Amino acid sequence: MNILILCGSPHREGTSNTLVKEFIRGAEEAGHKTTVYDCAHGNIHPCLGCDCCGMNGDCVQKDDGNEVLNKLLTADAVVFSTPVYYFGMSAQLKMMIDRFYARNGAITRKRMKAALIATAWNDDEVVMKGIKTHFDIIFDYLSFQNRGMVLAKGAGTVGMMPKRYYAEAYQLGQSI
Ligand SMILES: Cc1cc2nc3c(=O)[nH]c(=O)nc-3n(C[C@H](O)[C@H](O)[C@H](O)COP(=O)(O)O)c2cc1C
Repeated sequence: MNILILCGSPHREGTSNTLVKEFIRGAEEAGHKTTVYDCAHGNIHPCLGCDCCGMNGDCVQKDDGNEVLNKLLTADAVVFSTPVYYFGMSAQLKMMIDRFYARNGAITRKRMKAALIATAWNDDEVVMKGIKTHFDIIFDYLSFQNRGMVLAKGAGTVGMMPKRYYAEAYQLGQSI
């Protein structure tokens, strides 16, 4: 399978990218090909809401958006990775997801596999509630098959991240 991974953390060596590395290790050992797009350091801008795309065409913006969408449309699975920012995903990742609008129908028709890797500082009942619900709804709306979510709580830094999440991310890569 071709797996596209969309990373939303500004920390290149942070917690979510550390779990992405474990995911990739598992996925590549299982024979999959992975491609990473770093939404935090790439050339990507917010959706303008201009509707020039008509939800079925190229975006007018001359940044990485159209190329990432082309990669998405040739992938079998997509993995979203993000730190939890105020109970949701980072703006960096959301910016890329909003750009899906240009190819909304084509993406939905693919019924592709999808997964989420999220990390948060806090370790309590509510910390992952908002982001999990949001991605459940996005996956449903885009007809994605939910292949799993690594929701790493108490993972504010690489040093404090519980080791079990490394195993979870690796397993997700193997099983996706
Ligand atoms: C703007 C901002 C908002 C944050 N909001 C939350 C939050 O709502 N809940 C939480 O537990 N941690 C929050 N954090 C902490 C990060 O989620 C946490 O440190 C995470 O591990 C960072 O991931 P990264 O290393 O992949 O960037 C926030 C951090 C920042 C910078």
